[in-house]
Amino acid sequence: MDIAVIGSNMVDLITYIDAMPKMGETLEAPDFKMGCGGKGANQAIAAAKLGSSVMMMTKVGDDIFADNTIRNFQHFAVNTDYVEKVPGVSSGVAPIFVDKSSQNRILIIKGANAHLKPSDIERAKVRLKKCKLIILQLEIPLETVYYAIDFANQHHIPVMLNPAPASKHLDLSYACKCDFFMPNETELEILTGLPVETMAQIQTAADTLLAKGLKNLIVTLGSKGSVWLRENKITHIEPYKVNAIDTSGAGDAFIGCFAHYYITTGDVMQAMQMASLFAAYSVTGQGTQSSYPDKAQFEQFMQTARK
Ligand code: RIB
Repeated sequence: MDIAVIGSNMVDLITYIDAMPKMGETLEAPDFKMGCGGKGANQAIAAAKLGSSVMMMTKVGDDIFADNTIRNFQHFAVNTDYVEKVPGVSSGVAPIFVDKSSQNRILIIKGANAHLKPSDIERAKVRLKKCKLIILQLEIPLETVYYAIDFANQHHIPVMLNPAPASKHLDLSYACKCDFFMPNETELEILTGLPVETMAQIQTAADTLLAKGLKNLIVTLGSKGSVWLRENKITHIEPYKVNAIDTSGAGDAFIGCFAHYYITTGDVMQAMQMASLFAAYSVTGQGTQSSYPDKAQFEQFMQTARK
């Protein structure tokens, strides 16, 4: 396997809204979509759609959603040997609200994802040791994330941590053990307690993390592109402008695509440029995974983007 994603899966319940209801108010919303999501699963599917061989380690519930989630991984050729059902527990669910400006608000109910434990990593260690990259997020217990980072370091496997959703409990010494630490601007703000409205503020906030010893910090900035910060260097990747209709899962699109190109080329800049385009494509469609292009669609999009 090229990539192991140790992380979450969710059932996305996406409501497209004109406005948020006030307390006690009932409002009609124009549209609804249900789909497979979860930050870990989204990143796995993004990389798999581009051709990486991916294994997913995650937990589903014993409800009506579980088999559909497993079938979805298999449909995109993601290995499910370590996708397990947890008896008596619901699958992870994410009610998402997307407004007319394409921005999203997400609630997560972890459900079975909260049951992914260090012992699961131990059981998969023979398979995991053969992977070229491990990707982690924070929709599973922190103790599992820490265990996975130590495991990756011990076996010299590059590791990427997407600290999403941001947690003030995250021990940043573990972020320093990762090859790539990849928050979005909101997560950077929460992790540092500093404002991130301008590029100068983003750099100041990022510098406080780099000062702790982070190796590579990549911050995704939505319509402002992305930045890669390390030691005394900062590289800004300009965004590719598109007509956005739903930004849900765009950060995961970026990370899954970045992982695919990083392990294929070893070139961080190129991986960021591709990831930026892939994420741009994703915001032009509804849903999370459902808006990610496959390799052929992405190649066609790149040709248009180059003109
Ligand atoms: O990053 C987007 C994802 O966050 C959604 O798919 C939702 O499930 C939550 O995990």
